[in-house]
This record gives sequence, C-alpha cells and structure tokens, in this order.
Amino acid sequence: MLDIKITRTAAPKAKPEDETKLGFGKKFTDHMFVMEYEKGIGWHNPRIEPYAPFQLDPACVVFHYAQEIFEGMKAYRTADDTIQLFRPEVNAARMQDSSDRLCIPPIPVEDYVQAVKALVDVERDWVPHTDGASLYIRPFVFATDVGLGVHASHHYIFSIICSPSGAYYAEGINPVRIYVEDEYIRAAPGLTGFTKCGGNYAASIKAGELAAQQGYAQVLWLDGVEKKYVEEVGSMNILFNIDCKVYNAACEGTVLPGVTRRSCIELLQDWGYEVVEGKIAIADIMQAGREGKLEEIFGTGTAAVVSPVKELTWKGESVLIGDGNIGPVTQKLYDTMTGMQWGKLPDTKGWISVVEKVY
Ligand code: COI
Repeated sequence: MLDIKITRTAAPKAKPEDETKLGFGKKFTDHMFVMEYEKGIGWHNPRIEPYAPFQLDPACVVFHYAQEIFEGMKAYRTADDTIQLFRPEVNAARMQDSSDRLCIPPIPVEDYVQAVKALVDVERDWVPHTDGASLYIRPFVFATDVGLGVHASHHYIFSIICSPSGAYYAEGINPVRIYVEDEYIRAAPGLTGFTKCGGNYAASIKAGELAAQQGYAQVLWLDGVEKKYVEEVGSMNILFNIDCKVYNAACEGTVLPGVTRRSCIELLQDWGYEVVEGKIAIADIMQAGREGKLEEIFGTGTAAVVSPVKELTWKGESVLIGDGNIGPVTQKLYDTMTGMQWGKLPDTKGWISVVEKVY
C-alpha cells in the first residue's frame, strides 16, 4: 500500500462553466499524482501535488528514444454523486504488459489502482455532472535517465493527470468515416503494437493527418506484413457486424487489447451473439459491404466509448454501412456500457469500482 503525501493547491482553477463544450483532453485539473523510480530503490515518494510542468534535463531518455507508456481511463459521476471507475485493474494489468515490453519497471496493480483512486478522490469536484461527460484519467510512465546511450533507463516518473472531457470525436455518437490505410503500417509481429506506448501513436500521426485532410475521422490499420487483415483504428479497436456475426481482429501481439473491446465482446456473448476473433480480411469486409451484408461497424475505446462508423474507404472504393445511422447492436452496446458506467444500469458484471471519499 502506498503512503501518498497530499499537497493541495493554494490556487484552485475555475471549473469549466459549460460542460457540454469540454472537448477531449483540453483542460486539466488542479492536482497530479507523481512517483519516482530509481534502480536499487524502486518506486518511491508517491504524492499528489498541484498540477505543474515537470522540470527535465534536455538529455532525458524519453525525449530521444521514447521510452514511455500510458493508459486511458475515466471517472464517472452517478445521479447520487457516487464517483466510479470502470475495471481499473484491467488497465493496471495492461500497463504492466506495456512496461514489460518497454523495459520499464512494473507498477503493482494495487498501487496503480490506489494512486488513480486517490487522485480522483482529491479531484472529485472536477468529475463532470453532465450526461456523456466524464473525468478522463491519463496515467503515464516515462524514462528520465540523463544521457544519449540507448539502454533501459534507471530512473522513471509515474504520473497521473485528469481532464474533464466530453466525446472524443467532434461527431459525438454520430457515425464517422474511416480510411483504410494501405501505405503506412502501425504494427508488425515482434514490435510494440499490443502496448500503449507513445511511439505507436507518434508513428500513426502522418496517416491520420492525411486521412483527416480528406474528411476521415481516423484510419483503419491493416496488418503490417501483408496489408490484408484489419487490425485497429488509431484510438480504438474495431468490430464488424456482418450477417449477425461480430468479427474483430484477435489480440495477438499487434493489436491493443482494449478494455472496452473486451467488455463489449463479453456483453455480446452474454446476449447470444457469435463473436469471431481472428484474421479478418479487408477484402471480405468490402465484399460484404457491396453485398449489403455489412450491417454495422463500430469502434470501441475508453475515450471513444462505442463509436459507429458510417463509411469505409479502401483503395479508392467506399462502402456505406447500413443506412448511415447508428445500428441496433452498436446502440445497445453504447447504452449498456454508458448505462453501467454512469450508474443508470445495474453493474451485473462486477466491472464498477467506487472511489470512496477518503481525502
Ligand atoms: C483511450 O481511449 O483512452 C486512449 O488512450 C486513446 C487515446 C489515443 C485517445
């Protein structure tokens, strides 16, 4: 159990006035969690302190070799002002997997969850009251050794920041257009695709920018070897409802094992849907689209929640999904996930973790 020292800000910021216009990850709360690591000492000095810039040496490993990982979570306010998290221990375990691949010392699951809960408790007044808005939580770890040799750092910082946020996409729950990327790749076997490391996202920005110039919200990545099988979208996993079967890429090293993805699959199976996890060829998806069998496509992610897709473009051909509106399976998943998260539906799965008032 961490002994977290709390220093409260003497200058609290004004809370957002209009919670319907928060956007995503634009404003940050009053405090942040910080803990350091040094080889031989381990993780130490856990604290919550006023939100402020880090002072870092320009030769820090993270600036040059991107030894960095992160997570994404949300805190939700229910109608009776309970503040709750969604499966925090799954994010903690995933961060351990990312740590292992990036040679970063792992943070024990219980310490990670304790740190997140302590910060959210201190910031509970920042958790939005408005439907659809939540407190986005960004835990991250980065290497702070000073020097330009390429090696695993001996020093790290683990920090958590929070941002009152609305929908990730400007479109909100409205269906988005997705561009299937057939030049650049995001991941390949043996690389870091299954981790949440900043480098994965840095490498994805160019394709995202090019797609955005053509009016697409995101790109859909194909496998890095044959560019034949669908993998994931920039900020979410992606699932396809074809002829009442739900298909998605297996998480076998090149795809991020999303917490929302896993939860949606469990719900779909509970509801009796057949869910196929495997190698899904983009050519088959386009063919299903041409034949009118591509009923729904939706992305899943903490930030994106459950996001419908209305159009897919691959090699110059576009297929429209369903009638262009959110489909029934996507809507049911969205309603069930957000219902549980905001406490409007009972937590039948044991996924909710309440942030008790301690501080
Ligand atoms: C999340 O969904 O929490 C993520 O981390 C995706 C992010 C790139 C916005």
